[in-house]
Amino acid sequence: MSQRRKPGFLWGAATAAHQVEGNNINSDIWLLEALPGTPFKERSGDACDHFSRYDDDIALLAKLGLNTYRFSIEWARVEPDEGLFSAAMLAHYGRVLDSCRRHGVVPMVTLHHFTSPRWFAAKGGFENPEAPGLFARYARRVVEAVGDRIDWLCTINEANLTFAPVPSLLKAAAQATGSDTFSTFLFSNLSKSKPIVRDCHAAARAAIKDVRRDLPVGYTLAIDDIQDAPGVSGRAARLNSALYDVWLTAAREDDFIGVQNYSRKVLGDRGFVMPQTGALGPEGKDFYPASLGGAVRYAASVAKVPVVVTENGIGTADDTIRVRHMDGALASLRNAIKDGVEVRGYIHWSFLDNFEWLSGYGEQFGLVAVDRASQQRIVKPSARYLGKVARAGSY
Ligand code: BGC
Repeated sequence: MSQRRKPGFLWGAATAAHQVEGNNINSDIWLLEALPGTPFKERSGDACDHFSRYDDDIALLAKLGLNTYRFSIEWARVEPDEGLFSAAMLAHYGRVLDSCRRHGVVPMVTLHHFTSPRWFAAKGGFENPEAPGLFARYARRVVEAVGDRIDWLCTINEANLTFAPVPSLLKAAAQATGSDTFSTFLFSNLSKSKPIVRDCHAAARAAIKDVRRDLPVGYTLAIDDIQDAPGVSGRAARLNSALYDVWLTAAREDDFIGVQNYSRKVLGDRGFVMPQTGALGPEGKDFYPASLGGAVRYAASVAKVPVVVTENGIGTADDTIRVRHMDGALASLRNAIKDGVEVRGYIHWSFLDNFEWLSGYGEQFGLVAVDRASQQRIVKPSARYLGKVARAGSY
């Protein structure tokens, strides 16, 4: 095995295949984007053409001073038809990993970031009891082919994420694929799919460890910082426990837990209330960067494994707000670390302005802007800010 570079703290930025690569035509979401009545504002199309431009993008990330790149391998490319694995696509991801190494960047790979192959959705997706076997087979193939070049592996992104199902859309997708059913990670019958998602993670972890026992494996969770409103007590603790504990206790078997935090929720006597403190952001949203520290503390207290912040960021066209947000978020993370929480890294969402799912290209989470016509990358001050923090980087 090649010599591994081991930075102390992971300072990075993340992307996801469907949001940046472009033309992910065998995926379930590509189909949903195109159906009449789709809730997707626009189609992903070429996205950021990262499929071709990955080497320049990774070089830029490294030049900015970041030492870690989190990206996802696209199952719909690696296994475009059931049981048909593409050696060419595995080789492509091998080249992406080589590019990371060449530029001195630690690769963190996600195996599933919201999209699945269309055939998998047409078989019932994560509602299908066969899903763990199918997902673990894909995981094994990836690790057999390129696992020697991966440093950190996340099986499933935001495994706990819930979205309201859109039955008419899924019915249209089933018709379009000539099947009786169509279930996607983002839109599914949650009471059926969520236990199966956990089984998928466990099955994939076993398959991965079978091939490379030393590879750190975990999954990532979407965790809000849930707080009691002034004068209220105990509600936040109960809701935290109801929402997250089943996922966090499952992570005790893992090497780390990926925490993804974007916001807080404040609980009054009769449900969620608008927070009384904190300024509103320009989009009228609550601006509370310190939610990161709260989410990390809660996750670590239950999972009892090291934390990697695998996503944190803010969707805004005003980059000065992004810098302020990161500054506050990192201060809250530093405090958590001072208090003894074991945190291995901070990976910002996102590296590039990209296809933001239902909002299309209308929301900007990136450190780097992308000119939609020319695909030119334009570095924002927030990228330089994070690069500088990373270079100074000790915690
Ligand atoms: C997801 C990303 C998404 C981001 C911002 C996270 O929940 O993992 O794919 O773009 O939030 O909405």
